[in-house]
Amino acid sequence: MAVDLATRVMRVEPAAAVAAARALAEGRLVAFPTETVYGLGADAGNARAVARLFAAKGRPKFNPLISHVADLATARRLARFDAAAERIAAAFWPGPLTLVLPKRSDCPVSELATAGLDTIAVRVPDHPVARDILAAFAGPVVAPSANRSGHVSPTTAAHVLADLGGRVDLLIDGGPTQVGIESTIVACLDQTALLLRPGGLPRSRIEAVLGFALADPPQTDAADAPVAPGMLGSHYAPNTQLRLDARSVEPGEALLAFGPALASGAEHAAAVLNLSPAGDLVEAAANLFSHLRALDCAGVARIAVMPIPHADIGEAINDRLVRAAAPRNQRLD
Ligand code: TXA
Ligand code: MG
Repeated sequence: MAVDLATRVMRVEPAAAVAAARALAEGRLVAFPTETVYGLGADAGNARAVARLFAAKGRPKFNPLISHVADLATARRLARFDAAAERIAAAFWPGPLTLVLPKRSDCPVSELATAGLDTIAVRVPDHPVARDILAAFAGPVVAPSANRSGHVSPTTAAHVLADLGGRVDLLIDGGPTQVGIESTIVACLDQTALLLRPGGLPRSRIEAVLGFALADPPQTDAADAPVAPGMLGSHYAPNTQLRLDARSVEPGEALLAFGPALASGAEHAAAVLNLSPAGDLVEAAANLFSHLRALDCAGVARIAVMPIPHADIGEAINDRLVRAAAPRNQRLD
């Protein structure tokens, strides 16, 4: 499939959303910022466009995509909401929450986008550019993170160009994304609410609205029957090896620090970047992927990562770090 068109880059301006919506309607691939990370968008109802999207990312076709819509009313045309889904959608949309729900039989999203499943992931993003594009397009837009499959998600337009330059028809540059880590994914199916992926919206805030705890998905080794297909094995991976929970720096290592007190031996580190000198987890999430990318380019043997608290958005930060440190036998997204 030809995905070698030059990428046109537009800064945010009133015409950008209209140009993006027109390009989507023509079956083109448009990268745009959301509040979490940059997404690579395609018309969800256009199977050819969705196929081009899978090809551009190098993404396995069994890994389904999130459909992005402008509002809850549009989401209801794609999926069936139970009481729990209604409650958290009302509380957190627009925002960094994705819901996996039963797909409606008349859902206009292509089977390819949902990988043939009878469920669908939907989300209403909270970013002015994403919202303007979705309003102008007036239909569902599938948008995985705009990175090569298996790589770290992009939080700037430069990251998108580094990974997918020439494979994207139009890139809207809205500056660095605010949250910096992907949406939290909750499945509301069969009267249960499962946390499929920790993300930008902390678990505790969702549980406070629901009034009960989110369940964890059943563990499975079966790559052909995953609950959240993109969440297996090595993922969000830089090329350089990672060493987690590092309290000291070893020779040849770079340091990914957190908080005011650096790991011992930090003065000998080949490079040091601090996720949040003040020890603020929200700031750390916003910096995580750009710091990982920067240290990945530092030409070091390994990146030592200081311990990061698991509270709130720290759960998602630690989840991504564990995946980034995992062996590279499986790269699914
Ligand atoms: O913040 C985000 O969610 C970003 C921005 C661009 O919106 N998007 C994103 O998409 O992270 P992606 O494709 O990189 O991750 C989507 C995840 C994958 O792990 C996929 O397997 C899972 O959602 N997923 C999609 N549909 C699903 C379904 N029906 N059931 C279970 N998991 C699903
Ligand atoms: Mg992704």
